[in-house]
Amino acid sequence: MKGVILAGGLGSRLMPCTKVTNKHLLPVYDKPMIYYPILTLVNAGIEDILIVTGGNHAGEFLRLLGNGKEFGLKDISYTFQEGEGGIADALKLAEHFAKDEKVFVILGDNIVEDNVKEHVDDFKKQPYGAKVFLKEVPDPERFGVAVIEDGKLVSIEEKPENPKSNLAVCGLYMYDNEVFEIAKHLKPSSRGELEITDVNNEYIKRGCMSYSILKGWWTDAGTFESLFRASCLVAEKCKKENN
Ligand code: DAU
Repeated sequence: MKGVILAGGLGSRLMPCTKVTNKHLLPVYDKPMIYYPILTLVNAGIEDILIVTGGNHAGEFLRLLGNGKEFGLKDISYTFQEGEGGIADALKLAEHFAKDEKVFVILGDNIVEDNVKEHVDDFKKQPYGAKVFLKEVPDPERFGVAVIEDGKLVSIEEKPENPKSNLAVCGLYMYDNEVFEIAKHLKPSSRGELEITDVNNEYIKRGCMSYSILKGWWTDAGTFESLFRASCLVAEKCKKENN
């Protein structure tokens, strides 16, 4: 299984901090944000990683990460998203990299406490389809929200005004190779983006989407509030590990 980190976009919600750098290079406690999704993949046993980035500061990723020696990797692949066409638009760029394999996709601003290796190993055994991670949050309207009926995931609503649950869909997704065919047929949403939620709903419609609820904490880091929260959570985790 291959790993794909989506680190494009303009980070406009973090202006002026993102005026002279990419959002994913900003610090979360003691490391640049992009380190966390890389570590999530590496700790899950995934060593073949593509970073999709974009904007004016894409070159800085190479300067920071090089071939990924610091993470025990042999190399890292990079590609460039022109514009900000959405998460599923960025994912389309990973098709040639994935070849025929399954992919574990992580949004570059998502940080998780858990090691997700057991879920990755489970998904390797799932013959086809996709898998998402859910987490209870106090502010589901900021996210893709799971609609669950009788324990079954029946749909996902993107940033609903009246969320039907408090289960956010985390920015960690596992897909079979069919994802690239699905992404090719997407239409832009009202915000002009190709939505990952539309990809996930297609898998649900086909009856081949599974889910797991994350035990530990999960956060995004794309707003000042969540960036600050992410730093606090990571700092606490570091303190626990050092005691
Ligand atoms: O954080 C989880 C949430 O992420 C999910 O619950 C939502 O369903 C999903 O749509 C997404 O919501 P956001 O609106 O918060 O995503 P955002 O536009 O902030 O993008 C998240 C990351 O995706 C960003 O750090 C980089 C990458 N991205 C985004 C866009 C729009 C790209 O690589 N290219 C893009 O064009």
